[in-house]
Amino acid sequence: MFETLRPAAPDKILALMTEYRADPRSEKVDLGVGVYRDQHGRTEVMRAVRAAEARLHERQDSKSYVGMIGDADFCRGIGELVLGGCVPEERLRICQAPGGSGALRILAELINRAKPGARIWISDPSWPNHVPLIGEAGLETVSYPYFDAASGSVRFDAMMAALGDAAAGDLVLLHGCCHNPTGANLDLDQWRAVTDLCLQRGLLPFVDIAYQGFGDGLEEDAAGLRLMAAKMPEMVIASSCSKNFAVYRDRVGAALLIARDGEQADVAFGQLLNVTRGMYSMPPDHGAATVGIVLADEALRADWSEELEGMRGRMLRLREGLAAALREHSGSDRFDFVADHRGMFSRLGLTPEQVARLRAEHGIYMVGDSRINVAGLPDDGLDQLAAAIAGVLD
Ligand code: LMR
Repeated sequence: MFETLRPAAPDKILALMTEYRADPRSEKVDLGVGVYRDQHGRTEVMRAVRAAEARLHERQDSKSYVGMIGDADFCRGIGELVLGGCVPEERLRICQAPGGSGALRILAELINRAKPGARIWISDPSWPNHVPLIGEAGLETVSYPYFDAASGSVRFDAMMAALGDAAAGDLVLLHGCCHNPTGANLDLDQWRAVTDLCLQRGLLPFVDIAYQGFGDGLEEDAAGLRLMAAKMPEMVIASSCSKNFAVYRDRVGAALLIARDGEQADVAFGQLLNVTRGMYSMPPDHGAATVGIVLADEALRADWSEELEGMRGRMLRLREGLAAALREHSGSDRFDFVADHRGMFSRLGLTPEQVARLRAEHGIYMVGDSRINVAGLPDDGLDQLAAAIAGVLD
């Protein structure tokens, strides 16, 4: 049987993680996979998460099934965190999913049941796993222009022009905040304009929000999405807790669906749960139960958001520090956009050869498209890093 298979193409981000681990150089720098690291290079369990896990350990007296929707406190908490009450409850349904990736996949499967082979517009570039996760559910993936590498900004006019060609019933995948891989984001006026376009052309927004709290703040990062959700008759959202709760390996995410009315919401949600039953039966409990405890407890929630703010502030300082060091070492302002971008990533605009040289000559690891994980930047090594980057420029 297996002789019919050909080797799968390695995932570029995960392959880089393996290469980095195998590199014996002590001065190596990991700017690859999107995992938050503190100034000591560690990805700690967050304080509130640890406290919630202890409570869970005390109170959990059964490992029996929770059910298809998952943890009720978690779903309620995520609904509030993402949407802040901007959608009437009767039109909104939420279920737990194994990570934001799991949410993306089950929502894509649901859309494919509603409209087999529906076309979805995905930004160019986007997170490389968007196309497999969504495309393998049966949807047709096409791209819209998004990023201008020379200026490091959003090509908004080109994006709107491309989406102007979308047909009624097409979907548009949007990054809720902290665009991966570019770090260049829509402002609120642009969210408003995309919302109007979706309404005019009958497009359905599919929003992936995986970094809420890493950009401008928990509320600010959801503002564009909320503005859109308040106006759209239908919309789906995949939310991830991997980054903002640092529960990467626990696989914690949620699928949110907004329907025209309660009746359609019930039918669509029943189909969504039927998708999950056929794919993995029921979601894992531990991580979501933990996040549910944090979100439902005022003190834990306050501590969590304070720690998250600290992480966000550190990434902003690193952005400013790197932009300043690059300005000095390159003698130009071509990297100033790094300070303006938000979230975990920026794309530096280096060639694959320059990226390869940085890896070979300096042990600096970034994704081949020159995406850097800002949280991986060394707090006290920005100058050296900027010198190495400037050294490979033409
Ligand atoms: C990333 O973009 O690096 C993260 O989302 C991790 C992943 O699974 O690719």
